Amino acid sequence: MSKLLIRNARVARPDGSIFEGDLLCHQGVIERMAPQISATVDETLNAEGMLLLPGVIDPQVHFREPGKEYKEDLGSGSRAAVKGGVTSFLEMPNTIPPTTTQAALDDKLKRAAEKCVANYGFFIGATPDNLDAINHAHPACGIKIFMGASTGDLLVDKAEDLERIFANGERLIAVHAEDEARIRARREQFKNRHDVAAHSEIRDNLCALLATELALAFSKKYRRRLHILHLSTHEEVELLRRDKPAWVTAEVIPNHLLLNVDDYARLGSLVQMNPPIRRPEDNAALWAGLHDGAIDFIATDHAPHTLEEKRAPYPGSAAGMPGVETSLPLMLTEMKAGRCTLAEIQKWMCHGPAAAYGIRNKGKILEGWDADLTLVDIDRARAVRDEDMFTKVRWSPFHGRELYGWPLYTIVGGQIVYDRGKIRAGVHGRPLTFT
Ligand code: DOR
Repeated sequence: MSKLLIRNARVARPDGSIFEGDLLCHQGVIERMAPQISATVDETLNAEGMLLLPGVIDPQVHFREPGKEYKEDLGSGSRAAVKGGVTSFLEMPNTIPPTTTQAALDDKLKRAAEKCVANYGFFIGATPDNLDAINHAHPACGIKIFMGASTGDLLVDKAEDLERIFANGERLIAVHAEDEARIRARREQFKNRHDVAAHSEIRDNLCALLATELALAFSKKYRRRLHILHLSTHEEVELLRRDKPAWVTAEVIPNHLLLNVDDYARLGSLVQMNPPIRRPEDNAALWAGLHDGAIDFIATDHAPHTLEEKRAPYPGSAAGMPGVETSLPLMLTEMKAGRCTLAEIQKWMCHGPAAAYGIRNKGKILEGWDADLTLVDIDRARAVRDEDMFTKVRWSPFHGRELYGWPLYTIVGGQIVYDRGKIRAGVHGRPLTFT
């Protein structure tokens, strides 16, 4: 396997300090770091002025294959990922057919091996009656439960069905926590509202809190590993701050940190998602939760839909936004504005998700660890532009926003895959393993 020498980089250490020097990648791992390395190599990359970070691990994306490849597929989604500095992703089961059986999981893995340029892992989706599959399908990063309905048909909303899943098995359970009964009742109550801002009122904070409380109660009763996906409300942050067992983790997505109900006026149903965008006080609470550990890490919930699907009149408009190629520059821009540190970014976006899902040797730049890396331009800002997006749907809710920290190169398994705006041929991601 090829040898790559990265020269003169500003290398981010896990503690956020900077090491200036060279890094040698060989056989997919970081073989050596030193102020100056001379070695016979296949390629030398001059990284002068660039910041070298561990590749981002995005633990929640929807890449739409199989079934809706016109919006995204595992190839296009993974190319968008590496453009954004994401070298590993965990993909959700609400495809068509849904990933609820070993056969469907095998099919996704086969497709991914053929076309993914980033490393990949998949969730197995729960239904009320596939207990055997969710506990035994292999390899899976965890079980996904939609407690409230969202895009696709997956739903487990009856308490007895949920309890059976929590009571049987050991694998991580990741929940989309929104209370389906409350969503339905409020949809009826708000049926005369056709403005998209009603979306945040129908699926209100209490919808999220009720479901998170229920999942937490079952997790505590059975000491079952629980992960709460895309936490969105200040009430849930306060709950977890008071009462979060060691075996529970939670994530937040940049949309819930950086967008809120004020954005409906400008962006309309483009910013419609589940759980919905909330109020500014929720943004602030989510940031505070990240800082104090109530929330453990960041995912994107990359959920591409075409502009036509997004712009249909509410409630017929699709829920979800693309995000995998903007999360790192968004967060690095927040870092430059003083809202977080380089150590926190690495914890939230690299080694935090790796630790939670048992992905070994990824998420830190250390000798002997995997050479999944991204080199970013931290000193110059460039605007997000729909037309630059690699996602098939070619739009971003952050269109026009000036961001620092765009990746210039992304390296997967010691090989450059994203090279200043282009994808190099011949680089393949690998299946992730989970301990
Ligand atoms: O808004 C959303 N869109 N939330 C989800 O949970 C699913 C996602 C999608 O797949 O479109």
